[in-house]
Amino acid sequence: MESIPEKTISDIRNVSDIVNVISEVVLLRKAGKNFQGLCPFHSEKTPSFSVSPDKQVFYCFGCGAGGNVFTFLMKHEGLSFAEAVRKLGRRHGIAVEDRQLSPEERHRMQEREGIFDVNREAAAFFRKNLTDGQEGRSALAYLLNRGLTRETIDRFSLGYAPPAWDSLSGYFSGRQISSDFLEKAGLVIPREKGGGHYDRFRNRIVFPILDASSHIVGFGGRVMDDALPKYLNSPETAVFNKRRSLYGLDAARARCRETGTVYVVEGYFDVLALSQAGIRNAVATLGTALSTEHVRILKGYAREIVLVYDSDQAGMRAAVKSVETFRKENMNARILVLPEGDDPDSFLLRFGPGAFMEKARTARTMMDFLMEETVREHGLSIEGKLRIIQDLKAPLGAISDPMARSLYVRNLAAIIDVDERSVAGAVAAASSSGMADAAPGRGPVPEAAGIAGRSVMIERKIITMMLQFKDFLVEIDRRGTLDDFEDERLKSIGMHLLAHYRASGEHDIAGLIEKLNDAEREMTVNLSLGGDVWDRDGCLRLLAQFDSGRKRHTDDLLQRIDAASRGNDQALLLELLKEKQNRARKRQAIN
Ligand code: CTP
Ligand code: MN
Repeated sequence: MESIPEKTISDIRNVSDIVNVISEVVLLRKAGKNFQGLCPFHSEKTPSFSVSPDKQVFYCFGCGAGGNVFTFLMKHEGLSFAEAVRKLGRRHGIAVEDRQLSPEERHRMQEREGIFDVNREAAAFFRKNLTDGQEGRSALAYLLNRGLTRETIDRFSLGYAPPAWDSLSGYFSGRQISSDFLEKAGLVIPREKGGGHYDRFRNRIVFPILDASSHIVGFGGRVMDDALPKYLNSPETAVFNKRRSLYGLDAARARCRETGTVYVVEGYFDVLALSQAGIRNAVATLGTALSTEHVRILKGYAREIVLVYDSDQAGMRAAVKSVETFRKENMNARILVLPEGDDPDSFLLRFGPGAFMEKARTARTMMDFLMEETVREHGLSIEGKLRIIQDLKAPLGAISDPMARSLYVRNLAAIIDVDERSVAGAVAAASSSGMADAAPGRGPVPEAAGIAGRSVMIERKIITMMLQFKDFLVEIDRRGTLDDFEDERLKSIGMHLLAHYRASGEHDIAGLIEKLNDAEREMTVNLSLGGDVWDRDGCLRLLAQFDSGRKRHTDDLLQRIDAASRGNDQALLLELLKEKQNRARKRQAIN
């Protein structure tokens, strides 16, 4: 493997804007010079995730994650460094040769991109069958009959898979794409006997499923009659994972950002019907419960989730389960329960968008919903009331806002007609027994105490100054200030910064970051985003303070030499004299 040329890496870094890249997946708000948002790498309620457009770095003051635009993609998408560079390069039309990836990286990348390509072609094939072909007539009629317009069909690129066992396979065999590869994409299935493959989707309406970067990751397919299974989805592949996929996200994300709300529904047709009714901020899970990953993804686009579930048993049970997911992820959520037997699609057909929006406006919070459901489940016998408290004490105890918690407690006490203090007592016991907040935040590095602590504190300040203020780099280099650093990590960061500056003449934190190990990188972004503001006088004072510490150090050395020579400790004396010589040499270099 040849490594990617430095020049290519820095070109790609320089044309990329970290605020752009991160704001595609994290809701960012301007805060002073920087942008702030909820950290995508840990659960938090108040934003401690900072992105600096000037320095082109990000840092989370809660969990310590930090770095430049490449680091972000690596962490967020699970990419290697080379993959992150290549991905951004593609976006800006800067080529990174395949041979510059490791064999595994190349293989993984080619497989993923190959599947995206094949999926795109398959979607075009399905689409053509729906709109042009004779065969697709009944499929198109089915969709129109369900109330969809051609515009909606286009917007979601719906298609039709013909009934034959080999229509898609045949289409690809003419294009030199192997059926083994189509199998990897989940489009064909190997025959049990006799070898060969057959099409997975046959005689079905096909829904392409896109990720947030608009790649087609998989497909869903619906029969047009009562045949079973009603829906069929792509299997898990190198690019498709149901726990991370949300149908309609690509089409909905802009509107989610505008409104701050995302509707989470259960079905493909629900997303289509809502979109057609002008409610374009809806996504669907793919026959799975709403996962933690789903909620994390949605956090990047909306501040609130409105869960729209059927009021049948399964729907209610799924909603109750997701209460805990929302709590753990600190996501605001409400629940919109439709009349028994209706889903958003059928509700809209019967009552129209106005009625849906009215329901949405009055959707209950998850906690209200949970209380009402629990009361309904257990009833108000004495046994029932005890079970209700048993079930609700943990979720109530987990509400971190004390005011909100006490209001809910009062409400529950009134509903089940139990003394408020008893309910509060049960809830308090539950909240102190470990249900409390999840992420053990790693705060700012504590200031060390004592003499050693004091000099490290000055070293920290010097590095912070170097990271935020470039005017003194030459001076620090000349004085050899870093040579006397006690803290190895700070010293290494400073050395790298000077080397980077000497080599490129630039004070470029985002570029420096690639030279550092994980711990150094996190410290670097932390210090470079700190609140200090530097001026010339402050810098000079700081350097003078450090030098007087060095002088004390020298006096101390002289005393130790004296003691060693009086104690006749030859070995120690030799060592100390060498040290003295070293320092003298350095000082000479300074003057
Ligand atoms: N689903 C699935 N596999 C099935 C049934 C359902 O993956 N065998 C998923 C699909 O994503 C489907 C969703 O679960 O959209 C909800 O299923 P259901 O309520 O049965 O269907 P609807 O979406 O209401 O579809 P339709 O209106 O076409 O009947
Ligand atoms: Mn339906």
